Amino acid sequence: MSTMRTVKVDGEARYDICIGPGLLDEAGLFAHALRGKHALIVSDEHVAPLYAERVEATLRKARPALKIERFVLPPGEQEKTLARFCQCLDALATLGATRDAAVVALGGGVVGDLAGFAAACWMRGVDVVQVPTTLLAMVDSSVGGKTAVDLPAGKNLVGAFHPPRAVIADTTTLRTLPPRELRAGLAEVVKYGAIFEADFLTWLEANAASLLSGQDAVLAEAIARSCHYKAEVVSRDPYEHGERALLNFGHTFGHAIEAEQGYSGAGSDALNHGEAVAVGMVLAARLSAALGRAPATDAERLAHLLQRLGLPTTVPDGLEPDALLSRMRLDKKADAGGLRFILWDRAGQAKVVSGVPDEQVLAVLRAC
Ligand code: NAD
Ligand code: GLY
Repeated sequence: MSTMRTVKVDGEARYDICIGPGLLDEAGLFAHALRGKHALIVSDEHVAPLYAERVEATLRKARPALKIERFVLPPGEQEKTLARFCQCLDALATLGATRDAAVVALGGGVVGDLAGFAAACWMRGVDVVQVPTTLLAMVDSSVGGKTAVDLPAGKNLVGAFHPPRAVIADTTTLRTLPPRELRAGLAEVVKYGAIFEADFLTWLEANAASLLSGQDAVLAEAIARSCHYKAEVVSRDPYEHGERALLNFGHTFGHAIEAEQGYSGAGSDALNHGEAVAVGMVLAARLSAALGRAPATDAERLAHLLQRLGLPTTVPDGLEPDALLSRMRLDKKADAGGLRFILWDRAGQAKVVSGVPDEQVLAVLRAC
């Protein structure tokens, strides 16, 4: 375990994010995260055949008397539903899970969000151990306790804040991740540079090729740095009363694109979450420039980096600006005062901005 890095989340919920190769086999890490006699492994049909057996063996090594069941859902955002959530609760009931049970979320952000929400609700809250297997989940969704499922009306509309008891990120699981999903995770990595530190964008520009080729050491560095940014923010603002909202840079536009496309899924050519966020970040940067808040060159720098990372930077054909604007009104970042955007003053300095005129938003959407 010499190459394991640990990032600590502080505040009212304290936990460690452990990052490194081979952590799925580290019984000590899992033992530390378990309290009771029941564990439900939640995963999807891509991830479970690859890793569930190993995690189950590690859990048994950690706690030989543990009663373990699996709940495996079909892959994809379209499965992050109330119906699957109810099935997950049924699986906890079948397991006989008591208040000290643990839900082990083994997969990407879809599994992590749904399993985390089930853990938040079962008996008013049991532990969830996040075991992220996508880059996006390692750098973002497994950390900070946001859990949710989608409704046809919009993404993540039903959910709860439920911090994990531990995050265990085995970086070798990224070797089986489809390249498109790796690129989607890189969008969220870029987000941290865009919001907090232009120097991190410079580092990403210098390491773009190594990141894209999945080089272990560079990816581990990107994951640890990203988790560090996120841990700092969620430690100070766990419930998004303030600065945590900055983590939604690109998301107001991105969520609208995802909802308008009906969410990506098997056989769909819709943008996935990371891709939609990539487009959304470019739109947010261009909106910042159009409002005279930020240099247009910074927006183009961001677009160029995302393009080098193989990510889309334009609104997919067929999506109408007016329809996207309507979707944005239902976004959780909108409030009674109207649309609220995360914009930037320059690369690395994001801000929450209210009262952005619809016409400016539409103009940016039409031009992109
Ligand atoms: P995902 O969970 O759908 O995973 C992407 C695909 O990769 C799926 O087909 C999955 O089966 C497959 N996969 C996962 N790990 C694999 C591996 N190691 N090898 C092979 N295949 C693997 O998508 P995602 O991008 O991880 O997560 C997106 C979700 O995360 C969205 O629902 C988004 O809303 C949510 N999210 C939540 C937060 C949060 O704070 N809670 C933050 C960002 C995103
Ligand atoms: N992904 C945004 C957040 O966790 O707040």
